[in-house]
Amino acid sequence: MIRLIEPYITFEEVEAELKEIFSSGMLTKGPFVRTFTDHISQYVSAKHAFLTTSATTALSMCLKILNVQPGDEVIVSDFSFPATVNVIEDLGAKPVFADVDLETFNMLPEELESQITSRTKAVLFVDALGNPTGITNIKHICEEYSLPLVDDAAV
Ligand SMILES: Cc1ncc(COP(=O)(O)O)c(C=O)c1O
Repeated sequence: MIRLIEPYITFEEVEAELKEIFSSGMLTKGPFVRTFTDHISQYVSAKHAFLTTSATTALSMCLKILNVQPGDEVIVSDFSFPATVNVIEDLGAKPVFADVDLETFNMLPEELESQITSRTKAVLFVDALGNPTGITNIKHICEEYSLPLVDDAAV
């Protein structure tokens, strides 16, 4: 087997917290949720962080919040897990693929720009294999065209 990525969290690092969570009887809404979301929002310098049941749910919520509707286009990296595109199609919108860089597997800025139309509602960037390289340039283009940017950082 050739591993593309490996987890860098060890069981020993989280063993004490896991024991506390399981013995609290609150697997979904205990105090650890708040601690975790506070850490995440600090780590990514975001005002808020929310937990969802899966990355698919999170992506779907993002597109719904952006009011993506049937007939809208969402420009998406052409290298990803199927869920990234499923959430676009699930809303009746059209995924428009932007090619990726063959070194980083992340969306190329010129490919994004060439796919923007009057129907583009949002851009869905993927941090391929957990690597966000290139997102700053993508963010600049989104700002220039006033397009919301969703970052799929699931691995
Ligand atoms: C890039 C990417 N997006 C979305 C998903 C979907 O994640 P989940 O299984 O948590 O819904 C995955 C899962 O591997 C993924 O790699």
